[in-house]
Amino acid sequence: MNEGEKLDIIKRRRSVRSFENKPLTPEHGGLLDSLVERMNSTQGPFKAERRLDHIILTALERDRLKVGSYGFITGQQGFLIGICKRKPRPLIDLGHAMEQIVLDLTLEGIGTCWMVSSFKRSAFTDRIELKEGELIAAIIAYGYPRSRPSLYDWVASRMTKSGTRLPWKSLFFKDDFSTPLTEVEDICIDHCLESVRMAPSGENKQPWRALVFEKGIHLYIERVTAYASERHGFDMQYLDMGIAMAHLEAICGEDGTWTFDDPGLKTPNQEYEYIATLNIGT
Ligand SMILES: Cc1cc2nc3c(=O)[nH]c(=O)nc-3n(C[C@H](O)[C@H](O)[C@H](O)COP(=O)(O)O)c2cc1C
Repeated sequence: MNEGEKLDIIKRRRSVRSFENKPLTPEHGGLLDSLVERMNSTQGPFKAERRLDHIILTALERDRLKVGSYGFITGQQGFLIGICKRKPRPLIDLGHAMEQIVLDLTLEGIGTCWMVSSFKRSAFTDRIELKEGELIAAIIAYGYPRSRPSLYDWVASRMTKSGTRLPWKSLFFKDDFSTPLTEVEDICIDHCLESVRMAPSGENKQPWRALVFEKGIHLYIERVTAYASERHGFDMQYLDMGIAMAHLEAICGEDGTWTFDDPGLKTPNQEYEYIATLNIGT
């Protein structure tokens, strides 16, 4: 698959909150198992500890007990459950790993919805053994998308303006933060930046910022403090950063390598934090 096709999958993904009441085919069930296994046996960019559990719902759990999602999400066949410690690097690596699975499922026509807030953590902590210091940071509901979205699906999409993204000039910069970018000539960098811009993020807050330099891209977070901070006892926006890193990797493949040396550039405000550098073709 070339970069343009990979970007198409990233653009095709959207949050699905109403699913067909139909189990995954055995092939898709097998694929999901192997993706979970792959994630649990490999490491992310920061090599931090994180793991994924998988719950397939019975019809009773799904329809009558409305396990996990307060009934906001309908028809989901199960949940992927992301577990890690409440620290930046594990959260970033968890976001990265879970989004890789989201993209693989999107390619197969399987819909997903990330959830950090609108689910009952207790419904999962009853079933999953957590080690000291671990938490369920996020879950992903999955299933085949319904052709007609539910009312909640429609309302949630409207509330988060889910079809919209900030313009390039608010997200991307060249060499320093006083030079906003509106376009680039290099097609690989263009696809990289667009893949970040199209990423899902909690409440569509889009905290990722990218600074393009001669050899690649420095990635930063511009934290939305009121949203991110201690609502669930951890900074949820680190998950968004892991998602952006998964998109950049999907586009760049073997041409990109991560390093983590803060270039020490002056940032526009104190909410900025350096996350990582993607070195391209070096
Ligand atoms: C880390 C994260 C947490 C999210 N939490 C929720 C949630 O709790 N409930 C929900 O309905 N959607 C949740 N979403 C989905 C976002 O609202 C959605 O990705 C965003 O509005 C952009 O819309 P799109 O995914 O359709 O492109 C979350 C997304 C991310 C990445």
